Amino acid sequence: MMEDPAVKDLQGSIAKIFVRKAQLAERFYFHLFEQMPEVKPMFTSDMMRQREMFAAMLVSSMQTLSDPDRLEEKMQFLRISHARLGLTADQLAKGANALMAALIEVMGEALSEAERVAWARAIVHLMRAMAPPGSDLELSDQTDMQIYFISR
Ligand code: HEM
Repeated sequence: MMEDPAVKDLQGSIAKIFVRKAQLAERFYFHLFEQMPEVKPMFTSDMMRQREMFAAMLVSSMQTLSDPDRLEEKMQFLRISHARLGLTADQLAKGANALMAALIEVMGEALSEAERVAWARAIVHLMRAMAPPGSDLELSDQTDMQIYFISR
């Protein structure tokens, strides 16, 4: 779990992100498909509904960061619901990039540096929950994500 100051930074920013969650989800899938066109066919249901489920899951997981048991339940759900997809560590790292890029794009200056760092760490945590056993995401801090974003 993340240590307290980072959790506070992140949770303090949830309200302002919540109001833009639809746009955040839209930009997440934009970046996800741009970086990994091969995952697009995996989405077979209505994308509008998918975006809503994604945004709701993102916000509710972030709200449980300071409650290990409830957080574990969320992570378990993500692990189980993505297991059949066989996502690789590399794909999940790209997913983390896509989400961080979307966050920076949508929130811009509205997020402080500390809040960005806290989100970057939480996003990696989220993606790790879905990683194949024994693997690790190479992307371990926000620097690479910001480099991806700036290079676009
Ligand atoms: C590399 C990153 C990711 C990829 C490639 C991915 C891919 C997918 C795919 C293909 C589905 C099934 C869609 C369908 O059946 O049409 C799905 C479902 C879902 N994903 Fe992800 N996902 C990623 C990350 C995330 C993250 C970070 C979250 C959480 C915020 C998330 C939340 C969900 C939810 C809530 C569902 C619906 C599960 C259900 O009710 O069955 N995904 N994802």
